[in-house]
Amino acid sequence: MKNNPRREFLLNTAKCAGALAVLNTTFATNIFATTAKEAMPVPTVKLNNGVSMPIIGLGTYSINEVSTFLDAINVGYRLIDSAQLYGNEKVVGEAVKQSKVKREEFFITTKLSSNMDFKQTQKSIDDTLKLMNLKYLDLLLIHQPFENRKQMYKAMEEAYKKGKIKAIGVSNFTPDIYSDFVKSCEIIPAVNQCETHIFYQQKKLREVMKDHGTMLQSWSPFVHGKKEFFENKTMLAIAKKYNKTVAQVALRFLTQENIIVIPKAARLKYMKENLNIFDFELSKADMKKIQDLDENKGQFSYSR
Ligand SMILES: NC(=O)c1ccc[n+]([C@@H]2O[C@H](COP(=O)([O-])OP(=O)(O)OC[C@H]3O[C@@H](n4cnc5c(N)ncnc54)[C@H](OP(=O)(O)O)[C@@H]3O)[C@@H](O)[C@H]2O)c1
Repeated sequence: MKNNPRREFLLNTAKCAGALAVLNTTFATNIFATTAKEAMPVPTVKLNNGVSMPIIGLGTYSINEVSTFLDAINVGYRLIDSAQLYGNEKVVGEAVKQSKVKREEFFITTKLSSNMDFKQTQKSIDDTLKLMNLKYLDLLLIHQPFENRKQMYKAMEEAYKKGKIKAIGVSNFTPDIYSDFVKSCEIIPAVNQCETHIFYQQKKLREVMKDHGTMLQSWSPFVHGKKEFFENKTMLAIAKKYNKTVAQVALRFLTQENIIVIPKAARLKYMKENLNIFDFELSKADMKKIQDLDENKGQFSYSR
């Protein structure tokens, strides 16, 4: 049967909701766990190469403390989104080690953040693995569509075949850039990480990527607080109806659209809140109301 990512997400969500329903009164102690052992698993999606990836992870731009990563791991985050640019790869590796959670339970992403030729990219992948003190990465992305993206990707394909990376992908590739890029790929990108939120829903990009099974991953799912995101009237009304916060409704909306999300939160309160989105489902009508908020326009100068 053809792989159906939405079906897998809903099934996984149902499994988690089922587990929570069974736990009933222990729900709060489990989802708001204080030790890694107690944390509830989050639903996963299947990538186009068969690898499972959590549908929600931790955005880490400007997080540089091991203790912050340990907080996130303890409440249940397993997907951690790093990048060479963020300067926190070493710290992420240290947190993975200190957490006592098995390596195979994690989904560690990082990004190649500068324009490099084939040989430089080979070296950069090895340097990153060494810095993170990891034997393999779960996902490696090209951070931007750099000029040398095709030769960079060749080096990533080679590292993938050698088992140094479980999945490879891209970031900030527009529909046109992506469509041209896939023509030269031996291994189709598993993920394209792009600015995606209620005001920029990337409908065209999703349409273009559908045939290749590349999944959209949302960066800045809260628009980094811009555009009075947390005070949006439509979102506040929906949040009230489900007894959830605007942040939770936004993340639920994106994940229901089968988009992987990486909200950044340094505060423990927000880390917990953002994971607590699998015990409700937005109705078709509410999904439509949020779909209608789309302005199809990026909000960041470094976005495309
Ligand atoms: N590929 C790329 O080019 C690219 C570009 C931008 C970002 N990213 C990735 O995407 C991640 C997320 O994007 P982002 O950091 O720009 O913005 P974001 O996730 O949209 O917003 C993060 C901000 O929202 C706050 N917040 C988190 N949870 C909240 C909640 N439940 N209620 C109210 N406020 C909440 C955070 O507070 P505190 O942190 O203070 O707790 C932080 O100030 C980044 O960290 C990075 O990993 C990738």
